[in-house]
Amino acid sequence: MINSIKYPTVSSAQTIGNITLPNRIVFPAWQVNYANTDGTISDKLMRFYTDLADGGSGLIFTGAAVVSQECVAFDRVMRIDNDGCMPGLEHLFSEISMRGSIPGIQLIHYGRQAAKSVTGHDLLAPSAIPCPVMSGFDPAYRVKEMTLDDIRRVRNDFIDAARRAADCGAGVVEVHAAHGYLLNEFLSPYSNRRGDGYGGDPYNRARLITEIIGGIRDELDTAISVRVSGNEFVDGGLTPPDFEEIIPLFEDAGMDMLNVSAGVYESMERIVPPTSLGETPHISIAAELKNFATVPVCAVGSIFSLDMAESIISSGRSDLVAMGRAQVADPGMVKKSLAGDELEIRECVRCNGCTFWTTGDPEMYCSVNPKTGEVM
Ligand SMILES: Cc1cc2nc3c(=O)[nH]c(=O)nc-3n(C[C@H](O)[C@H](O)[C@H](O)COP(=O)(O)O)c2cc1C
Repeated sequence: MINSIKYPTVSSAQTIGNITLPNRIVFPAWQVNYANTDGTISDKLMRFYTDLADGGSGLIFTGAAVVSQECVAFDRVMRIDNDGCMPGLEHLFSEISMRGSIPGIQLIHYGRQAAKSVTGHDLLAPSAIPCPVMSGFDPAYRVKEMTLDDIRRVRNDFIDAARRAADCGAGVVEVHAAHGYLLNEFLSPYSNRRGDGYGGDPYNRARLITEIIGGIRDELDTAISVRVSGNEFVDGGLTPPDFEEIIPLFEDAGMDMLNVSAGVYESMERIVPPTSLGETPHISIAAELKNFATVPVCAVGSIFSLDMAESIISSGRSDLVAMGRAQVADPGMVKKSLAGDELEIRECVRCNGCTFWTTGDPEMYCSVNPKTGEVM
């Protein structure tokens, strides 16, 4: 029984580009390190996503999946840089669709926020400015300013990856331009000091992303989402007013949805907000960016109940709400809420043990849902 009386906007459909989502709840991209070592879909990864799809989320972003071998940051990251990944992805997307959710995939190049110990070579970035966080972990850390050939190759890698995703049945492809990874590095004056056509003013800093969006749009009618950090929370970084100029560029190129997050590695507490930041600390950022957008906007960050989601969407601050930790803690929380069984929900305690890359754990685990991804 759908609780559409209590959650009328959350349980209503939303169209993004050429696809209609059954409700407004999104599972955001979530690196878990459960893939096989060749980046293909393991049984554990399949179980992780099918549990979420059984739980009723309208759109599930799988990934992040790497678009080129040169930027692999973890040894069991999902990959979409070669055709060998496709059978597993096709199976995964079909299992998600069969359960009534729309399968999406986030495409990533880690840029300077990777580890040379994993890539085996100097990390690529718009400018040769080391990431203060990653360089502290790895004595061999080096960053290389990308040549125009590097830029062309990466642009084509994103477009090829989007084509593979669409061929495998993805309903939405998301270009990851948030959290300080390569495309965010290009977008931001904090990390981009180039003097050519890919640096300088906002138009040039956005150029690689608009070329990727446009290249995907030229080939595919699949819905395109772009994830940005609406505020990087670093000195000299992007803040919401910067997006007044950037968002129309993305829309003109073909963006169908804007997914608004926050933070880069130096402001990690903004990527996965701890309890000290309170509830829904980034809603005002999403709301501000929504003023500049005509496409649907998704908000994220410590949104832990459908009550909160309903209040955010019905007050016009976003069109969609992404819930990460809440759904990992209880993959069934959307369906339970819509059925009026909120008291049955296992709640996230925001211990942030799931951020395995900060705890030194090899893969994601959840302290209140230790069975996450468990294969029966
Ligand atoms: C384990 C983990 C992995 C994540 N991986 C990604 C990722 O691959 N791509 C991305 O855009 N965000 C990633 N994030 C950020 C989440 O998508 C989300 O924005 C963040 O957890 C805040 O939402 P929440 O408060 O609902 O958990 C990750 C977060 C966690 C905890």
